[in-house]
Amino acid sequence: MRRLFPTPTGPSSPPAATAPPPGESPRPPDGPDSLDDLADAYAYPATTGAGRPWLRANMVASLDGAAHHQGRSEPLSCAADMRLFGVLRALADVIIVGAETVRREGYGPARARKAFAARRAALGQSPAPVMAVVSASLDLDFTGPLFTRPVVPTILLTGARAPADRLLAARQHAEVVLAGEGTTADAAQVVRALVDRGHTRLLTEGGPRLLAQFASADVLDELCLSVSPLIASGDSARITNGPDIAEPHRFTLSGLLEDDGYLFTRYVRAGRR
Ligand SMILES: NC(=O)c1ccc[n+]([C@@H]2O[C@H](COP(=O)([O-])OP(=O)(O)OC[C@H]3O[C@@H](n4cnc5c(N)ncnc54)[C@H](OP(=O)(O)O)[C@@H]3O)[C@@H](O)[C@H]2O)c1
Repeated sequence: MRRLFPTPTGPSSPPAATAPPPGESPRPPDGPDSLDDLADAYAYPATTGAGRPWLRANMVASLDGAAHHQGRSEPLSCAADMRLFGVLRALADVIIVGAETVRREGYGPARARKAFAARRAALGQSPAPVMAVVSASLDLDFTGPLFTRPVVPTILLTGARAPADRLLAARQHAEVVLAGEGTTADAAQVVRALVDRGHTRLLTEGGPRLLAQFASADVLDELCLSVSPLIASGDSARITNGPDIAEPHRFTLSGLLEDDGYLFTRYVRAGRR
């Protein structure tokens, strides 16, 4: 991976090993490659914790803005993206995901990875992040590993008026949290409910309909968007698929890595950090 931004400047920057050939710009310095380097680079802000949440989203999009190709995001991804995906998971207390993504992508529980065990223990985190699924219908496969074999019990977030029979079934397989008065959950209440359970390092992997609600509620602190060098065409959603925001929200570029033509951008909501 190459780091394109921020570029190291100032007296502490290592000198370039060799001058670039005439007419060529210097090769940007190497970025974080090892799992530890990536984990350090993407650590949640030190201010997170003690009731103060930080909601990060990790999404991938094609050059033409598609958030999936034929119903899956995997065709847009690459090895470096999956590596970063795994690291972002390993840093989180909880992974929040919409039910359609769970169904389409066949989500299972998050893994407890040895490489991150000491880091997680030092922060008082469970061995693996909790999976938190947002659903109104609660139409989920409760016999699947997400509910039968999680490292830490899966949480289901829904509205108080979710179908009674599904609520009953859901409560037998997961901790069910009512985070909205109607049939759906409210995005800001989802964040508050997770904070109330001690989760402050929040990661959402979308999908687009859920991410749009976090964005419009203005509870999204950071977007890690991988841009893949592909044109997908078709009519798949962008990474947010929801109601208009009155005024577009400004984000500030905080990091940019590159690998094999894929860009790994990192934007923080202006004024948040
Ligand atoms: N590019 C990427 O990084 C990325 C990331 C994730 C997913 N995807 C792709 O996105 C596609 C799915 O898109 P999507 O927008 O439909 O996914 P989604 O946001 O994961 O799922 C939508 C579903 O989530 C539940 N939901 C969302 N908001 C809710 C609320 N406020 N209260 C209660 N339930 C709520 C509902 O589930 P119920 O129907 O159960 O009520 C809704 O039907 C898949 O093809 C997937 O591959 C791409």
